[in-house]
Amino acid sequence: MILVTGGAGFIGANFVLDWIATVGTPIINLDKLTYAGNLGNLTNLRSDTRHIFVKGDINDRALVARLLKQHQPGAIVHLAAESHVDRSIHAPAEFVQTNVTGTFCLLEETRAYWESLAEPAKNRFRFLHVSTDEVYGSLLPTDPAFTEATPYAPNSPYAASKAASDHLVRSYYHTYGLPTITTNCSNNYGPLQFPEKLIPLMIRNACQQKQLPVYGDGLQVRDWLHVVDHCAGIRAALQKGRIGETYNIGGNSEKTNLQVVNALCAILDTKLPGRAPHSRLITYVKDRPGHDRRYAINAMKIKNELGWEPAEKFETGLLKTVEWYLANEAWVENVTSGAYRNWVETNYANRGAM
Ligand code: NAD
Ligand code: DAU
Repeated sequence: MILVTGGAGFIGANFVLDWIATVGTPIINLDKLTYAGNLGNLTNLRSDTRHIFVKGDINDRALVARLLKQHQPGAIVHLAAESHVDRSIHAPAEFVQTNVTGTFCLLEETRAYWESLAEPAKNRFRFLHVSTDEVYGSLLPTDPAFTEATPYAPNSPYAASKAASDHLVRSYYHTYGLPTITTNCSNNYGPLQFPEKLIPLMIRNACQQKQLPVYGDGLQVRDWLHVVDHCAGIRAALQKGRIGETYNIGGNSEKTNLQVVNALCAILDTKLPGRAPHSRLITYVKDRPGHDRRYAINAMKIKNELGWEPAEKFETGLLKTVEWYLANEAWVENVTSGAYRNWVETNYANRGAM
């Protein structure tokens, strides 16, 4: 039995589905179901007794304590977070509340639970914290990729809140001996990603013949990883990682945003030839404040120590992702509720074309 937080979100739901398919042991899934959490992501598990869903907040310490006492999980995989950089610029408070205070609450209740365990359960227990490469800040074009030794330099409220949570997790290992492991991963893509993030937003807009809003000059670089590869990396770290360590996870796949958007347009041109060329929809809009120019991950530590490396190539992964979104229009329409439309208005209305 493991406890997963944020298991109704993009990576969380992929992780829950992947865990049930590969490991197969039961999961308690604690998720607040914010705008980003959707039980429709887990309909395949509706009648699977190995998946226990609990709607709740990681800040609710009494609830967390009760779940730990009742289910006695052997590990916690902590994914719950506010995750979108643009939202953190418009409304940072929720990021501090969930990513910092929420992680603190979870750590405190986990510590009390872990200290109550007898051997060998205590020795085997793990707290796996899922974090991001954004904590390292921005790279120049010729800089070497981020390693686990790169100093933290977060530039957005989102990145700063994740950095704070990483520091708290680290301190619980060094101060209390809590057996923690942290993973810092690059940009994920794949099925079930909320269409506020670059790839699903561009697919949705292109399908609706709307503008494709590229921030600034579109030459910012991200290191893309398919979400299923990320899930395998989390599993490897949980099952074989050394406690107190951090592991970078990345795709060895650096692309500029323009390369990504053009690749999406080229795929859509073959799928929907009547509307080609989709690249005519590309529109340059006002840049994101504090926009990090380049991320790149050096994933040699997890490869050498744990034998993990990405299996999916970006080109094939992107094609499968477009196919998934085209085949799941109902899912997209279901998650893009009224609140989503308000967000689009907030983020894009004042950007204008450049
Ligand atoms: P997401 O926004 O799609 O999902 C977050 C989930 O957390 C949602 O289901 C939401 O309901 C839940 N949640 C939010 N606040 C909560 C709270 N207070 N209590 C309980 N549940 C709460 O995020 P994602 O993209 O799946 O990211 C998951 C994790 O992975 C995050 O910690 C994020 O920082 C990290 N990460 C994401 C990426 C990426 O590219 N998406 C890359 C590296 C790391
Ligand atoms: O690097 C890991 C991080 O990747 C995760 O920790 C975050 O949770 C996740 O959201 C992601 O952050 P980014 O800011 O890199 O992702 P996003 O999809 O928002 O943007 C990717 C790039 O595309 C970024 O340079 C901004 C740009 N962009 C984004 C949107 C939404 C645009 O040009 N236009 C857009 O409309």
